[in-house]
Amino acid sequence: MKKVDVLLGLQWGDEGKGKVVDVLTPRYDIVARFQGGPNAGHTLEFQGHHYVLRSIPSGIFQTNQVNVIGNGVVLDPVLFAQEAKDLEKSGVDIKKILKISRKAHLILPTHRLLDAANEKLKGSSKIGTTGKGIGPTYTDKVGRNGLRIGDIDHDFKAKYDNLKRMHFNLLRALGEEPNVDELEKQWFEGIDYIKQFDLIDSEFFINKQLASGKTVLCEGAQGSMLDVDFGSYPFVTSSNTVCAGACSGLGVAPRNIGEVYGIFKAYCTRVGSGPFPTELFDATGDKIRQIGHEYGAVTGRERRCGWIDLVALRYTIMLNGVTQLIMMKSDVLDGFETVKACDAYEVNGKLTRDFPFSIEGDVKPVYTELKGWNADMTKMTSEAEFPQEFNDYVKFLEEKLGVPITIVSVGPDREQTIVRGK
Ligand code: GDP
Ligand code: IMO
Ligand code: MG
Repeated sequence: MKKVDVLLGLQWGDEGKGKVVDVLTPRYDIVARFQGGPNAGHTLEFQGHHYVLRSIPSGIFQTNQVNVIGNGVVLDPVLFAQEAKDLEKSGVDIKKILKISRKAHLILPTHRLLDAANEKLKGSSKIGTTGKGIGPTYTDKVGRNGLRIGDIDHDFKAKYDNLKRMHFNLLRALGEEPNVDELEKQWFEGIDYIKQFDLIDSEFFINKQLASGKTVLCEGAQGSMLDVDFGSYPFVTSSNTVCAGACSGLGVAPRNIGEVYGIFKAYCTRVGSGPFPTELFDATGDKIRQIGHEYGAVTGRERRCGWIDLVALRYTIMLNGVTQLIMMKSDVLDGFETVKACDAYEVNGKLTRDFPFSIEGDVKPVYTELKGWNADMTKMTSEAEFPQEFNDYVKFLEEKLGVPITIVSVGPDREQTIVRGK
């Protein structure tokens, strides 16, 4: 029996998961998403093309690989149909290579309205969600009210109407006057489109494939610092983004987890509200945002930028059992005279290297300053070309994090990826 490998983000999302999944896919037979939904935006660049995937796994462009949307994912039929049809137009035979779990939950038009209404209610303490109905859909799943893909063939319209009625009552109680007439039409068209796909029991599919010697890469969405249990609660998403989410979101037993690739940027970003200890509010933060094009892949929102946070990274490496680290966007720090890394926090005047219960309030990052590298890394194709200062940065991070950095990314393109130790 083969084990699944898992690739996930160790920070607040947008680490570059899409790019690396695309790069690693040729090593695998199957790529599977296990949580999240269209709140994700995974960017892939190759041969001059630029794609942003939301619900569809990032293995979709490598031919012959099977891609799976697992039971832990929440799917919006409208957004899914748009995304899939765009891929069909670009020549991807998506109905042949994508399978969808019957146990995946559906995002209803009213879930989106509830997301917006909840945010409005929170006022200045809003989460800054992506507005895609993620929270309300997972709330219905846990509250045992949700609608699943597999319900499409079972009394679907009545179940839909029931849930919609419930949502209308909730929305009215929140002072909203809901109207979903237009959205609903597109939604049911999306449902008809989904029916054309191979709707499977993905837990059986994945386990049978593993038993027959096939290899599986599980693609995380968001990042561990957005995990509903371990992230900066309540400023998190509503799913388990950590490695354990691959077990519950695909039906993989914990002992069948193999490699865990933890992916992080050479610095750190966050989008939406919530604490971010190493955030920079100065020209350096603006410079990182500008050079790194740190704007949401889907929403276009400005991403908040800061130095790398090793306290948070050690925490998420522990939570996920990371076996290999992948460092992204190294090139963005090219030409910085110095780079900083936060190795401890001062919380209410006390020094800690462990991630505290809360990072809100008086949390000051304690930095180590390292020499920057004055080189253009984007053109580099091998480790041998790395400048000494960059090697020192990598060595410093490996020592502080205790896990080897096996891949370094030096640009958005598929080709701008350097495997170390080769
Ligand atoms: P994901 O959500 O984790 O897949 O990441 P996003 O796609 O939201 O954001 C990552 C952004 O960085 C995308 O615009 C990528 O094209 C880009 N990117 C990925 N790796 C690199 C890199 O090594 N260098 C640079 N400059 N950009 C990168
Ligand atoms: P990928 O997969 C970055 C953030 C939102 C908000 C919080 C909750 O591209 O890395 P939600 O809509 O999930 O209820 O929003 O989580 N968020 C992300 N931030 N990357 C993502 O996905 C995100 N998905 C959600 O900005 O702060
Ligand atoms: Mg993203």
